[in-house]
Amino acid sequence: MTVQIGHILLADHERIDRLLGEVFKLAQAFDAQAPQSVRRLGDEPDPVIEQMKTQIHVKWVEIEASLMNHMQAEETFLFPVLKQVDMQEALALQGEHQAIRNTFTEIGTGVVIATSPITPHFAQLLRSHTKRESELLYAWASAHAPPNIAETLKMRLKRTFIDL
Ligand SMILES: [Fe+2]
Ligand SMILES: [Fe+2]
Repeated sequence: MTVQIGHILLADHERIDRLLGEVFKLAQAFDAQAPQSVRRLGDEPDPVIEQMKTQIHVKWVEIEASLMNHMQAEETFLFPVLKQVDMQEALALQGEHQAIRNTFTEIGTGVVIATSPITPHFAQLLRSHTKRESELLYAWASAHAPPNIAETLKMRLKRTFIDL
C-alpha cells in the first residue's frame, strides 16, 4: 500500500493535538487542586499533587519530542522539495516553525502551562500552521513529492509516533 504524505503528517498533527488537549486538562486540574493542598515547611509533599506534576511533566516532554521531530522531518524531507517550486511558501512555513519553537520554549515546562498567557497563543499558532500545511503543502506533497519521501517520512515520524 502506498503511503500518503498528507495522511501521515495530518495523523501526527492530530496526535500532537490530542496530547496537548490532555496536558491542558491535567494542568487545569492541577491548578484547581493545588491551592487546596496547603503545605508547611517540613511537611511531606502531597502525593496527589506530586503525581499530577509528574504526569504533566511526562506528557509535556512527549509533546515536545513529537513536535520537534515532526517539524524537523518536514524541514529535512519536504521543505527542500517545496523550495524548488514555491520558495516563498517554504520560507513562510519555516518562519512559522521558528515561531512555534520559540513560543513553546517561552511557555516553560510543567504546571505553568495552565496559567501561562503564552499557552493560548502557542495553541493558536500551531492550529493555523496545521491548517496552512494541510491546505497547501500536504495536498501538493501527496500529489507531487517523490514517492520515496513518503516512506522516509513515515520512518522518521515513527520515532515519536510508534503506532503510525
Ligand atoms: Fe510544519
Ligand atoms: Fe506539519
